[in-house]
Amino acid sequence: MNALVAGMPHKQQDIAQSVQALLGQMTLVEKIGQMSQVEASHGYAPEYLGDRLRAGLIGSVINVVEVDVLNELQRIAVDESRLGIPLLIGRDVIHGFKTVLPIPLGQAATWNPTLVEEGARVAALEAAKSGVNWTFAPMIDISRDARWGRIAESYGECVLLTSELGAATIRGFQGDDLAANGSIAACAKHFAGYGAVESGRDYATTNIADTKLRNVYFRPFNAAVDAGVSTLMTSFSDLNGIPATGNRYILTDVLRGEWGFEGFVVSDWDSIRQLQIHGLTENDRESAYAASTAGVDMEMAGDAYSNHLPGLVEEGRVSEESIDDSVASILRIKFELGLFDNPYTDPESLPEFANERALQVAKEAALQSVVLLKNDHGALPLAADELSSIAVIGPLADARYEQLGTWIFDGDEELSVTPLQAMRTLLGDSVELRYVRAMENSRSRVNDQFDAAVNAAHESDAVLLFLGEESILSGEAHSRADIGLPGDQVELVRRVRAIGKPVIAVILAGRPLTLSDIVDEVDAILYAWHPGTMGGPAITDLVFGKASPSGKLPATFPRVVGQIPIYYSQKNGGKPPSKDTVVHIDDIDTFAPQTSLGMSAFHLDTCFTPLFPFGHGLSYTWFGYENIRVSANEISIGEEVVVSVELGNHGDIEASEVVQLYTRDLVGSLTRPVKELKGFQRVRLAPRETRTISFKLHTDELAFFGRDGKRTVEPGMFHAWIGGSSDAEQRTEFRITEHR
Ligand code: NOJ
Repeated sequence: MNALVAGMPHKQQDIAQSVQALLGQMTLVEKIGQMSQVEASHGYAPEYLGDRLRAGLIGSVINVVEVDVLNELQRIAVDESRLGIPLLIGRDVIHGFKTVLPIPLGQAATWNPTLVEEGARVAALEAAKSGVNWTFAPMIDISRDARWGRIAESYGECVLLTSELGAATIRGFQGDDLAANGSIAACAKHFAGYGAVESGRDYATTNIADTKLRNVYFRPFNAAVDAGVSTLMTSFSDLNGIPATGNRYILTDVLRGEWGFEGFVVSDWDSIRQLQIHGLTENDRESAYAASTAGVDMEMAGDAYSNHLPGLVEEGRVSEESIDDSVASILRIKFELGLFDNPYTDPESLPEFANERALQVAKEAALQSVVLLKNDHGALPLAADELSSIAVIGPLADARYEQLGTWIFDGDEELSVTPLQAMRTLLGDSVELRYVRAMENSRSRVNDQFDAAVNAAHESDAVLLFLGEESILSGEAHSRADIGLPGDQVELVRRVRAIGKPVIAVILAGRPLTLSDIVDEVDAILYAWHPGTMGGPAITDLVFGKASPSGKLPATFPRVVGQIPIYYSQKNGGKPPSKDTVVHIDDIDTFAPQTSLGMSAFHLDTCFTPLFPFGHGLSYTWFGYENIRVSANEISIGEEVVVSVELGNHGDIEASEVVQLYTRDLVGSLTRPVKELKGFQRVRLAPRETRTISFKLHTDELAFFGRDGKRTVEPGMFHAWIGGSSDAEQRTEFRITEHR
């Protein structure tokens, strides 16, 4: 056995040997061909890409999803090129394919890794049926700025939740065996720090201290590597002065050196040539040099590599060994996908698009993603049998396309079931629905239908407002500086409110919106994100109490945009605000002291707390937490402590609750966040049931990267909370000591 394969499992040994054998036959130009991905949606690709394929100049194509076209591209690559290397077929399959699941931020609100994994599997099966074998998901950029349009594609602000859901998504796409029919390679993106772009402007700069990179932004990527993700994508953004696509520290030193990543790294779209625009390089040739020596293995949709790498190797500036490393990691994924055995797709061998199971998973994901933000006096659920009419008002009640959200290239709008449609189906003729769209779209300032909306509300027994933002208002390059309800929606709420009936708002959006303008104007708010194909039936089940809401916020909801960044795991600072220093006006603690009394980290014009905290989400029952306990008051490094609580369902319905464990490391050699999520469990309790919920916590889970850049647990006192949000009140404590 040679050194190359010692210690590898059998299949991996075979693959490693095959890769080396193939590499040995390749010319430099063919190698660089494997490192090039090309856009293939400009007409009939086999025609205009045929010659380059035959010459072995293309390793991957992007943006074709016609299975016949893709099979033909594979045939040319395999049968008509010298070495017959099959293609990677890339596509952004972000939250579903034909069947659309909730946006990732909505899926994060389920706090349900199993369901997220099932959703990714549904997407993989549908994408694979079209010939796609590589998706550019999950996006696991920690997102703490709701102005950033791409927060919609993220799993929110929390390191643990993002890491767990990212890994679940990867498992769903890749399955146990990448070569199995229906598995596709995943791509964790965007490495690294993209979510921290200044003021939420997409593509802007980031400045992130190394300890923060390591303790926050890197962590989901490290988890993705541990979960076996095949590929990673670089970020468009500048990171501490070195744009991610040219950043050797992150792409080579950390990713490969420290984490042992063996897949390959793809640039983002043309981001290699953009190194020049950033001002890092003078021209495309230097950009190719910077990216390739940094550790970017494949160029997406640009020609810097194909034009310049051959010359750079001939000059000796880029070594052929480093080219070989890149090509080997690309070929390895092609072997793992089984493409050398069979590059073709037989659509008949995979389940139908939008089959019953796919729609059921999409509905369940939507159902569990919806967050009940408030519910005064039990305004929800509505009792259908006590109503004879309902006013259904707003631009998003019947908007098939808009409810799908961002990144739905292949999503089938025709499959969407809107809330209005679903309510009609559920209620039949027994309840009259008075539908008034009221606004052409969420941004509209034309309010000539408002009178009709008010009249409908006046004449009906209940009022449902479907508000929010269209899909176009979030996603890539769709950031907003003001994240309130756009257009004249606030005015619509006020006009409807004025008639004095209970008002229920259902909000569809791609981000946390600032809701301070309407939160006191409505009795209940269901926050439904962009819920996807089956959003309508899911929302309808919740509105009429066929199911109880169980979603929890994956991101903090600010009161006003000026509070951003606001997130639960912030640092304490030396003059932290506290509830005691808040001035209470009419029992509402929303105002900071406008005098010198405060002297703490307040904004003068708003409270320091968010409107809704991370982890928040109500239910139609009432869950109570009592008797938090620790199994030991003191443990030493390397041991475990069990933290438990009694959770009671104090209502009359069976319902689910996401129980959350947070800790605080009170003193650290680097200051530590005021709270960190360390565990969560989605549990279902019968009416009046009480159950003990326990979390095992190993001291490793309390480690962090300290001053010396090493990940260590520091002895000392820890607080632990268990509750239904990051505002959990049940608290206990324990001490960690040095090894016994
Ligand atoms: C640019 C986006 O940043 C990235 O996330 C996406 O995968 C590529 N374009 C391909 O469409």
